[in-house]
Amino acid sequence: MKVIKLDAIDSTNDFLKGLSATEELENYTVVTAENQTKGRGQMGAVWNSEKSKNLIMSVFVKGLLVGVEEIYKLNIATALALIEVLKTFNIQNLSIKWPNDIMSANYKIAGILIENSFKSDGSISSVIGIGLNVNQTNFENLPKASSMAVITNSSFDKDELVPLIVEQFEVNLELINLNPQYLWEKYTEVLFKKGVPMPFKLENQKAFMGIIQGVSATGKLIVLLENDSIVEYGLKEIQMLY
Ligand code: BTN
Repeated sequence: MKVIKLDAIDSTNDFLKGLSATEELENYTVVTAENQTKGRGQMGAVWNSEKSKNLIMSVFVKGLLVGVEEIYKLNIATALALIEVLKTFNIQNLSIKWPNDIMSANYKIAGILIENSFKSDGSISSVIGIGLNVNQTNFENLPKASSMAVITNSSFDKDELVPLIVEQFEVNLELINLNPQYLWEKYTEVLFKKGVPMPFKLENQKAFMGIIQGVSATGKLIVLLENDSIVEYGLKEIQMLY
């Protein structure tokens, strides 16, 4: 595993995408940064992180997926890798807010942004961006965010986390390929607010109540609605209002 350590960059995802366009990268090439000036989150959001406090990393993988329908595997493998590593550092009440926010109790401690590109040879190359709040303790403007330091009252070596996360991701991806059901069940087990009535919103529509039942084999969120129907929603289609 090669790690490229940067001081400041616009976005480690953008940097790694650019690098992969100009040179042949090995799988699991990692870029980390102390600071991002244009850190990006899901759905066009901004990812803010206090300089040097947190883990900001992106991992390159290519040719590990057979087709588009397998992209969900990267989501599960990454989210569960974070959960598994965080558990070893005594972070309690971990869950995954679908599709891939990592929560400790009701606070978000990590976010994942996976960006895929489809090559002319049919292969898929992906950049898996991870922002994990490690040593930041001031979340004044982010009342729903927390960090490993806030939760445990101690500080951590963020660089030490990099190989642990990447190794666990590799193991998870292998396990998914051997037995997709197994990791799928593990993911469903740790779904945030499963079984709890919650407000949801679809694009350009009014909010409605629903209860998360689980996740389908194709990665869709299964929600029980108030009229007793069960509906599956794809990535980016639905937002939990939490
Ligand atoms: C989210 O929760 O919305 C996803 C956040 C992803 C943030 C990480 S930090 C490293 C990588 N570079 C980026 O610009 N974004 C991701």
